[in-house]
Amino acid sequence: MAKLILICKASAVVLLTSLLLNSSIANGQQTGRGINDYPQLWDNVPDSLDGFVTIHNKTVINPWNYLERMGMYKILLSVTAKYMNNFGPGNTGNVLWGLPLQHGWQFKTGRLADPSNVSSCGHQTGDSLCISTRSWWSCMNYYLATIPFLGAVEAGFFDEWPFEVEILPPEEHMGDFCYNTADCHALIPDTMTKWTTFFQLLKNTKDISQNTLSPNISPEEDNIWHHMWIAHVASIEAALTKFSERLRYISAPEAQFGVSWGSAVEFIAATHFHTNFNQTNIFQAYLPQRMLLANDKAPSIPDLSKEENWTLLALDILYKGNKMTDGWLLKVWRRSMCSERGRAEGRYLLENIAANPDLISSGIRKLLLEYIKNHNCAITDA
Ligand SMILES: *[C@@H]1O[C@H](CO)[C@@H](O)[C@H](O)[C@H]1NC(C)=O
Ligand SMILES: *[C@@H]1O[C@H](CO)[C@@H](O)[C@H](O)[C@H]1NC(C)=O
Ligand SMILES: *[C@@H]1O[C@H](CO)[C@@H](O)[C@H](O)[C@H]1NC(C)=O
Ligand SMILES: *[C@@H]1O[C@H](CO)[C@@H](O)[C@H](O)[C@H]1NC(C)=O
Repeated sequence: MAKLILICKASAVVLLTSLLLNSSIANGQQTGRGINDYPQLWDNVPDSLDGFVTIHNKTVINPWNYLERMGMYKILLSVTAKYMNNFGPGNTGNVLWGLPLQHGWQFKTGRLADPSNVSSCGHQTGDSLCISTRSWWSCMNYYLATIPFLGAVEAGFFDEWPFEVEILPPEEHMGDFCYNTADCHALIPDTMTKWTTFFQLLKNTKDISQNTLSPNISPEEDNIWHHMWIAHVASIEAALTKFSERLRYISAPEAQFGVSWGSAVEFIAATHFHTNFNQTNIFQAYLPQRMLLANDKAPSIPDLSKEENWTLLALDILYKGNKMTDGWLLKVWRRSMCSERGRAEGRYLLENIAANPDLISSGIRKLLLEYIKNHNCAITDA
């Protein structure tokens, strides 16, 4: 009982703080910046396996090169396009857009470069397309790029391709990664299975394109988002554990941001957030557009925008609030997101919170209502 009261207090403090901070800081308008931004160098990225070198009957992909890693995403967008007709015109609704757009943001903001300053990998003065195995962001992203790609391979998306696909290992830390489906099932079985399951689900979804586009998403569509997020969260959870020692190469505020962002993704996932082309662009405009330095302290980083300042602070509060209450916040959030109605409220809140801080109190009220209604809910991974 005492513990429960403590937890309630703690979360009340968290919610109240975020409420106050939100209304005093984030009263800016949605600028609309970021819309229609393709990832960096998108036109130079190969969109089919033809764009890669094939030697000795093996098509070779080097995931430690930005164009090639991004190429895996562009290929995935292309081969899944036919299952995404109902999600939006011109493949803009593809559920995978969040991944390449995030990767483009990582590249643009210097997060894929060698942070240890030992090599010139990823730096403008050196091999600017190189992705460093010492970068925490690069390693995290490997699990959200190569693993999904191999999941699609396993689900049979490239069965027509006449050659074997070979993923090149990096020069160091080889044991931290996997290079083919069998390898990945051995290294991170749960994550690999979830990505394969997601791609198999797509393959088996035939009816969806016959529905007409409607504002309410169908259970089939929601199921696709659901499985994408299950796999996404599994990748982050596996990678967070594996790559925590990479955090020592980056500044303390950057490390804190990275970890709290990883944790926030679990809240985002629970809403089955629609990380399509448009939404992801709007959303990630609020993420810091440069790496954080040792002396940066949100929300008073002068050269960041108001929204970037606020986002950093909000992520910090969310992370600490959840940690302080032993994961209770995430549990409450997940239960509120157990119904489609709750998830729709959650998505609406996430989409509009930065532009309209007044939403937060009415949003929390609605979510609590869903929380109470969803008492019989079996909480799943995402
Ligand atoms: C590539 O595959 C073809 C068809 O299976 C085979 O004839 C050829 O010898 C192979 N080439 C190499 C270099 O293994
Ligand atoms: C994305 O925005 C474009 C341009 O405003 C619009 O035509 C398209 O329908 C949007 N896509 C989705 C999935 O909402
Ligand atoms: C290495 O670090 C120093 C000091 O932090 C910096 O001035 C320099 O530009 C860095 N070099 C590279 C290659 O990033
Ligand atoms: C970010 O926050 C700091 C402190 O509140 C402020 O000085 C800075 O101007 C903010 N950036 C913008 C563009 O609002």
